[in-house]
Amino acid sequence: MRESNIREDRKKEHIEHYLGSTYKNDTLFEDVYVEHNSLAELDLDDIDTSVDFLGRTIRYPIMINAMTGGTEFSREINRELSKIAGKYDIPMAVGSQTIALANEDSHSSFEIVREIMGDDGIVLSNLNGHATVKEVQYAMDIIEADGVQIHLNPAQELAMKEGDRQFKGILSNIGDIADGIEKPVIVKEVGFGISPDVARRLYDVGIRHIDISGKGGTNFIEIEDRRYGGSGFSDIYSWGIPTALSLIECRNIGRHLKLISSGGIRTSLDILKSLILGADMVGIGGMILRKLMEDGPEAADTYLGDLIYKLKMLMVLTGSRNIGELREVPYRLKGDLRDLVR
Ligand SMILES: Cc1cc2nc3c(=O)[nH]c(=O)nc-3n(C[C@H](O)[C@H](O)[C@H](O)COP(=O)(O)O)c2cc1C
Repeated sequence: MRESNIREDRKKEHIEHYLGSTYKNDTLFEDVYVEHNSLAELDLDDIDTSVDFLGRTIRYPIMINAMTGGTEFSREINRELSKIAGKYDIPMAVGSQTIALANEDSHSSFEIVREIMGDDGIVLSNLNGHATVKEVQYAMDIIEADGVQIHLNPAQELAMKEGDRQFKGILSNIGDIADGIEKPVIVKEVGFGISPDVARRLYDVGIRHIDISGKGGTNFIEIEDRRYGGSGFSDIYSWGIPTALSLIECRNIGRHLKLISSGGIRTSLDILKSLILGADMVGIGGMILRKLMEDGPEAADTYLGDLIYKLKMLMVLTGSRNIGELREVPYRLKGDLRDLVR
């Protein structure tokens, strides 16, 4: 079977097994207590949810994270997701474009995102940490990307039978990408979190955007395990750094570091807490995909619309006029999160 055929099948299987996955990990956002303010002296209409992201002002601090591309099936998913991203004017990342480096037929499944979101939309490329500067530039050109995500996914690769086993040299390669690519380079995990040590090493090679993509949502050890019938890896399904912990520990790494909170973001409260804890942007992956696949495009659209309304509502209830003011909201940590924060 050709390498690109394996990749095509794999992307479909990832979605199927994501939807079938059942193991529940915890983001630890439950351990963040935020006080209610019943005298906010704010009207709902006063609330400004806009943020600066990659040099532009966008209406909401929410983005659709990297998931798919490569096949006709993925094209349809990307079409529906990008319609929603376009409607709410939020950024969207395409799934890994490794397949697009080898197979031109796959390009339209990525290009559809730019077509639908138009010149004003923020669209991000996605490749792995072995990609050369030339490959990154090529992937970005396909979708006229506004930036690129480079994913770190050793846990997933090692749980994947046909996965990568070589992880040396990735950090310096990422440094080369940061030097060689003019647009923003975001380094992201895929659901196992970024430690402060990793964040610092990335910062030191020039990375200024990190998507922590922590534990508590999509679990690629389980997904890969399910692709082969399951249970071989069930003893390590709990691996990873919970999203809330990763966020707290990475937020003071560098003055110029922008953090994207993702991994298990399901509710507006998760978004609110991410922003209070210091995130600059919040990424949603699996949940919006699940809404789309199980309940259809309208349900996915409604889900996002509800998240936005409830985020505004919670901003009133914390007395925060804008996203900057959310950073000043008092909060307390309890339970496991308090024990784990260094
Ligand atoms: C079906 C599926 C496919 C994914 N494919 C990619 C990918 O190609 N590249 C990548 O960087 N992340 C990929 N991810 C990871 C997400 O971008 C995100 O980091 C992770 O799912 C955690 O967020 P969530 O819990 O909201 O899903 C994928 C996630 C899902 C559910």
